[in-house]
Amino acid sequence: MTQLSGGTVPRDGSRFKGRIAVVTGGASGIGRSCAEMLAEQGARVVIADLDLANATTVAAGIAGRAYAIDVACAPELESLAALIERDIGPVDMLVNAAGIIQGAALSPQELPLEVYDRVFGVNLRGTYAACAAFGQRMAVRRRGAILNIASIAGMRSTPLHAYGPMKAAVIQLTENLATEWGRSGVRVNCLSPGPVLTPALQDAIDKGQRDRARMEHSSASGRLVMPREVASAAAFLLSDDASAITGVNLPVDHGWLVASSWSSFGGVRASRD
Ligand SMILES: NC(=O)c1ccc[n+]([C@@H]2O[C@H](COP(=O)([O-])OP(=O)(O)OC[C@H]3O[C@@H](n4cnc5c(N)ncnc54)[C@H](O)[C@@H]3O)[C@@H](O)[C@H]2O)c1
Repeated sequence: MTQLSGGTVPRDGSRFKGRIAVVTGGASGIGRSCAEMLAEQGARVVIADLDLANATTVAAGIAGRAYAIDVACAPELESLAALIERDIGPVDMLVNAAGIIQGAALSPQELPLEVYDRVFGVNLRGTYAACAAFGQRMAVRRRGAILNIASIAGMRSTPLHAYGPMKAAVIQLTENLATEWGRSGVRVNCLSPGPVLTPALQDAIDKGQRDRARMEHSSASGRLVMPREVASAAAFLLSDDASAITGVNLPVDHGWLVASSWSSFGGVRASRD
């Protein structure tokens, strides 16, 4: 089977020429791929991440800028939005990819509330606070596009008791803000990736918390998602090609959502060739 890696649309830098993008969590994984793809397609990219060392390395490779930020701290985001707009210019696009995956599938007896609070603080509160800081400025200018990263774990029952409910909330937050700012020219969408082979997922695989073969087997395509496959969907939703699309949640999951219930019937059929 041919393995596609995404990203077949404009490589001449014309799609986002003259636009400024902020990518939270852009130092690694999905955020990094989004940052790199937006830069390839012409955007000036600002990476905002807890990990300044990696953010600086990624930014250096795409002629971008890097800032240290903890998205769980709303005042930091508000100051960063003001700083970027003063020093670089008005932000046209925001990708909220900063997040932590809850690796271990812990029962409620095992899951410490501190973990629950941190997953809430980063994945939901952090996404909301970044939307608020950048989105309100976009709404005043009547122009902008926001892309949140949710998850298939927010669309189906899983044993991820902190992570899943937060991602479900990110999907609804996206719908609310799309409506809130729709008449102010700001589009807000989200993606729900299936298992994506990022450093975070690789770490969970290495720790024995996730089984790569089982994850591959659960999808229709029999594959894990690659970070660039998420990035190309993100670039589409942020682009003018998606000008009529707002408030949607697009699964990027190699058909995990449609295939996972086939396990009751013996699983997905093998390739016919
Ligand atoms: N990898 C997957 O299988 C998968 C699937 C669905 C959704 N997601 C979501 O995609 C997003 C990115 O995940 P990833 O797999 O690329 O992870 P990753 O660990 O590779 O990258 C996450 C980045 O976010 C940064 N970050 C973490 N906490 C932060 C904070 N408080 N403030 C600022 N930056 C912070 C990290 O430093 C890192 O650079 C997360 O929201 C995750 O839930 C991942």
